Amino acid sequence: MVNILVIDDEPSIREFLDIFLRREGYNPTLVEDAVSGIAKLGEKTFDIVLTDLRMPRGSGMDVLRWVKDNNSSTLVLMMTAFATTENALEAMKGGAYDYIIKPFKVDELKLVIARAIKRINLENENTKLRHQLETRTARQRLIGSAPALKDVLDIVERVAPTNSTVLITGESGTGKEMVARAIHSRGLRAADPFVPINCGAIPENLIESELFGHVKGAFTGANQDKEGLLTAAETGTVFLDEIAELPMLMQVKLLRVLQEKQVRPVGANHDTQIHCRFLAATNRDLEEEVKEGRFREDLFFRLNIIPIHLPPLRDRKQDIPLLAESFLVKYCEEQNRNMHGIHDEAMAQLVAWHWPGNVRELENTVERAVTLGQGTALSLKDLPQRVRDVERSNSFSANFEVQEIPEQGIPMEDWLEAYESHLLTLALEKTNGKKKEAAKLLGLSFRSFRYRVAKLGIQNGLDDET
Ligand SMILES: Nc1ncnc2c1ncn2[C@@H]1O[C@H](COP(=O)(O)OP(=O)(O)OP(=O)(O)O)[C@@H](O)[C@H]1O
Ligand SMILES: [Mg+2]
Repeated sequence: MVNILVIDDEPSIREFLDIFLRREGYNPTLVEDAVSGIAKLGEKTFDIVLTDLRMPRGSGMDVLRWVKDNNSSTLVLMMTAFATTENALEAMKGGAYDYIIKPFKVDELKLVIARAIKRINLENENTKLRHQLETRTARQRLIGSAPALKDVLDIVERVAPTNSTVLITGESGTGKEMVARAIHSRGLRAADPFVPINCGAIPENLIESELFGHVKGAFTGANQDKEGLLTAAETGTVFLDEIAELPMLMQVKLLRVLQEKQVRPVGANHDTQIHCRFLAATNRDLEEEVKEGRFREDLFFRLNIIPIHLPPLRDRKQDIPLLAESFLVKYCEEQNRNMHGIHDEAMAQLVAWHWPGNVRELENTVERAVTLGQGTALSLKDLPQRVRDVERSNSFSANFEVQEIPEQGIPMEDWLEAYESHLLTLALEKTNGKKKEAAKLLGLSFRSFRYRVAKLGIQNGLDDET
């Protein structure tokens, strides 16, 4: 519904505009002078102000100035009874969107308003596009503020522009592939192919030919020459995922490839130069695999030049709210849903759960909640039973009491913000969402309360007026 504020001292004009605008399907508010007009603008957001230029108390220019000073996106349309272009021109110079000269015909008015609305829609469309663009880049961004993850991001930045081999370790779903892609996309090879190879998924007898290629007739079924993935990757990045699954014989061959940067296609009698960079990942403890004799020590050393370890999500719980919120935005957009945030109790359960499937499990949980949830925010009942039932001994609110600063330190700003958010939410809950009362409970002015609520993104779908 388009909200239009009409400011005019002449009762007959107000009456006419009221009837006309309603009939056109708009939502008009009518006041008789600039002072009350400005007061209304301060209370509520209007899409359009249709104001007379000359009035007894204040002028249309005062209204225009207020709109501009307050950085409001409201479009100002001037009505002027003086058929002199100077007045209108002055208003346009001051930032009015358009003007109309009184007395006007209904058709003229229709046209001016239609133009303004077209402009508003265009602007909204732009904002939406910009938002989509931002979330799309955010989607590929590694999220995390925990010290452990900050270290990871730091190494990623530093190794990205080099050719070093990186070994990424961590439990399933901790983001190993995401880190590999981040290294690739921030490096000099970003424009070249990123070739992920799941070493555990290729049948043992085919691995060599998949990686190195083969020549026609090398084995039964090799009806023609085939290029291997390592050559196909050209100057890009080869990501050897699940590297611990590589059979012993292939480990030997891979070591040679890493050292010599040459491959020999199956059945060929000459080597081919390769130019790719290697990244590898595993969710196993490779050192343990070496000890057990399942992984070659020399290959381990060759791969482990720069190790990156991704800690499990349960060891960096402060990243959970950040990740959950970003997945909420991602899936709301993808599924065209409109959820404003995550209720506090739901967030507390998300933080309390130990996430054996790590970030992937969290992402799937939020996706499911967005798909099945009915409300305007993600709430407790949208979470799977196992997450809902977990004992909150280690929960968010209990966490606020710090007895001792842990080894790795704590991000104080984040903690204070989280605590502030916690208090604001509790106050809102107590007053059933009435902001003025909640502000009083916390000894804050309404303005300050409203500012904090907006800053911390606490949204309960509440009316701003109460
Ligand atoms: N720090 C992060 N920020 C945002 N999303 C993340 C982050 N870490 C992981 N994810 C998301 O979690 C999911 C799992 O990540 P990824 O596939 O990289 O994990 P993995 O360690 O390779 O898992 P597996 O060992 O099971 O292959 C992906 O959808 C990824 O987008
Ligand atoms: Mg993976």
